Amino acid sequence: MIRDINLAPSGQLKIDWVEQHMPILSQLKRKFAEEKPLAGKKAVICLHLEAKTAYLALTVQAAGAEVAVCASNPLSTQDDVVAALVQNGVTAFARYGASDEEYKLHLNKALDFDPDILIDDGGDLVSLLHSERQEQAKKIIGGAEETTTGILRLRALAREGLLQFPMMAVNDAQMKYLFDNRYGTGQSVWDAIMRTTNLVVCGKVVVVGGYGWCGKGVAARAQGLNARVVVTEIDPIKANEALMDGYEVMPMVEAAKIGDIFITVTGNRDIVRKEHLEVIKDKAILSNAGHFDVEVNKEDLKELSTSVKVVRNNIEEYTFQDGRKVYLLGEGRLVNLAAGDGHPAEVMDLTFALQALSLDYLVKERSQLKAEVYSVPEEIDRKVAQLRLSALGIEIDELTEKQKKYLNSWQE
Ligand SMILES: NC(=O)c1ccc[n+]([C@@H]2O[C@H](COP(=O)([O-])OP(=O)(O)OC[C@H]3O[C@@H](n4cnc5c(N)ncnc54)[C@H](O)[C@@H]3O)[C@@H](O)[C@H]2O)c1
Repeated sequence: MIRDINLAPSGQLKIDWVEQHMPILSQLKRKFAEEKPLAGKKAVICLHLEAKTAYLALTVQAAGAEVAVCASNPLSTQDDVVAALVQNGVTAFARYGASDEEYKLHLNKALDFDPDILIDDGGDLVSLLHSERQEQAKKIIGGAEETTTGILRLRALAREGLLQFPMMAVNDAQMKYLFDNRYGTGQSVWDAIMRTTNLVVCGKVVVVGGYGWCGKGVAARAQGLNARVVVTEIDPIKANEALMDGYEVMPMVEAAKIGDIFITVTGNRDIVRKEHLEVIKDKAILSNAGHFDVEVNKEDLKELSTSVKVVRNNIEEYTFQDGRKVYLLGEGRLVNLAAGDGHPAEVMDLTFALQALSLDYLVKERSQLKAEVYSVPEEIDRKVAQLRLSALGIEIDELTEKQKKYLNSWQE
């Protein structure tokens, strides 16, 4: 179930490019190809289907697993990359722009593949297994979750005692959120906004909704682009962090009046809603980098508008009754993926190394693991950090025996 197999050569070129910039995954792929730790297992990968993910799928395949992929977002699927995956022997159910019904059909088809292990991004696959496919859920060895929003949903399932198999919280590994969420989102969000709008950022007022790991990255890059940065938050600690990092902090209803470019990245809903749109500055650009397209309330946007038209690829213009216009990028879906190529390959090298090692861990340790949300073990986090330094040819100091003793003593 893909767009067109003839697109494969262009997708293969994209995969070849990222391979050159993902040395950790390449090293794991070589090791896995020798040891085959996932032999005889079936894996379903539900992620943004672009080149870096494709390379992860090929790494899991090299480890001996049969692999099927489906998309975690219909607007981030690159049809040529999916075609190349199929040519490499991966089963795929995805095409760019799939409707909600097709998207769900693709998830179900991927589960019909009967996976033993899975990777999810945002929790749609796991959610389906725990609602409409509960019998199947009992047979799953385990899975790994990619993002903050998915982990919130997993923890909710676990809290209610409903989680059926172990899930690794890959997002919460340090080598994930410190780099992927912060630097990956920071860079790729601005890449997407700039290429989509072709407008200047310096001198503009940029409003960042949410000062978590992603928000920190988005705000820092905006500052680096010479924008005036405003942060909105609901957490007083994060608000203080934003202040001390040099940004203005105010409620969204105030920020709405002065912002030129908005980026929501909270994992929550309705960050920009009716009461904000009623006072929003004319020609404001709205975008979202949080996992689901619920951070900018599109129903409220429609309700206030007399017309909506596509004025440029990935830009919808909403005209309000009083003549003000606002522009929504990428239909309010993750802007860096819907209107860009996602995170840089070097960043995804870290995240996907964690994913590959987490699947390996789940299979090796399956007899010890319960139906809980597990942190990625510290050894895996540190291993990925060390592999990255080695790939860059960077060495660091080691503790001397005296230093170790000093750090572990209360008398010295
Ligand atoms: N675009 C991407 O490529 C990408 C990458 C990683 C994560 N994500 C997604 O981005 C979202 C944020 O992830 P994170 O890791 O930064 O999470 P986080 O938990 O570190 O930060 C979220 C922040 O939003 C704040 N917040 C919550 N409700 C708010 C509200 N009403 N107004 C203002 N602030 C509010 C929280 O206080 C918190 O500081 C999640 O949905 C995550 O899945 C996207």
